[in-house]
Amino acid sequence: MTARQIIIDTDPGQDDAVAILLALASPEEIDLLGITAVAGNVPLALTQKNARIVCELAGRRDVPVFAGCDAPLKRGLVTAEHVHGKTGLDGPALPEPTMPLRGQHGVDFLISTLRDRPADSVTLCPLGPLTNIAAAFVKAPDIIPRVAEIVLMGGAYFEVGNITPAAEFNIYVDPEAADIVFRSGVPLTVMPLDVTHKALTTKPRVDAFRALGTEPGRMVAEWTDFFERFDKEKYGSEGAPLHDPCVIAHLIQPWLFTGRHINVEIETTSELTRGMTVADWWRVTDRIPNATFMGDVDADAFFDLLTQRIGRL
Ligand code: RIB
Ligand code: CA
Repeated sequence: MTARQIIIDTDPGQDDAVAILLALASPEEIDLLGITAVAGNVPLALTQKNARIVCELAGRRDVPVFAGCDAPLKRGLVTAEHVHGKTGLDGPALPEPTMPLRGQHGVDFLISTLRDRPADSVTLCPLGPLTNIAAAFVKAPDIIPRVAEIVLMGGAYFEVGNITPAAEFNIYVDPEAADIVFRSGVPLTVMPLDVTHKALTTKPRVDAFRALGTEPGRMVAEWTDFFERFDKEKYGSEGAPLHDPCVIAHLIQPWLFTGRHINVEIETTSELTRGMTVADWWRVTDRIPNATFMGDVDADAFFDLLTQRIGRL
């Protein structure tokens, strides 16, 4: 099996960081071509820095990291320091990164990579607001049919919203960008809150990361300890949902996830329901299916995979 060539677009974020580590720990399945940072959980200056910190934690100073868009296409930036802390990676003390940020804009890296490589060879893995992806599609529409697949974390249906009653954060921050991506015709696999809220960091699961006895294992445990306090208080749950690693786990073991190929459209006009992913789960309309919208995950197998792979670093 040849490794799938991917670009991770991300707003680290503790869960983004775990997703990046999982990708770097899985070279048989994943060839990470680069990381493009986007403003989301925290401003761009921090997300691009955090992406470099995570690469260095994995000993991978070779991974090119680019800064993308610092604000949504048409709206002001909404951030989530209340969840991720002011640095975006609160929890453990972290060293300043020493690897350089690449000079090319993240959107231009997306465009040049998709133009330079064979059509249908590159998968895009957005873990934050879809601003960079949409900006690339607007600037260079010729790249759209060249994208093999987009596997993204975002949206919600049965689980409803986490930043408003109607919307999940990544889609809420830049609904116009999400609308461009969901209408693009690119094959979409969506990891919404409906599935990520079933991948909860229980104490035994966090203890398993700590028991690895490695620096990455300790970091993941301490990030999780910090990250989960918000969701445990809000939902009264046993742990926090590890949202973004679901995207990477799907590339490695897709059979862990189940969902439906349905129509999903994005609310961009109403301020009450801005960013809602209107998922036609029961196929009550004749709208054309455009996304595989996941609804379930084998959580024990997911965490077994995550722990085993993080243990490789
Ligand atoms: O709503 C969860 C998503 O928003 C995750 O990607 C998290 O990192 C934040 O970006
Ligand atoms: Ca994220």
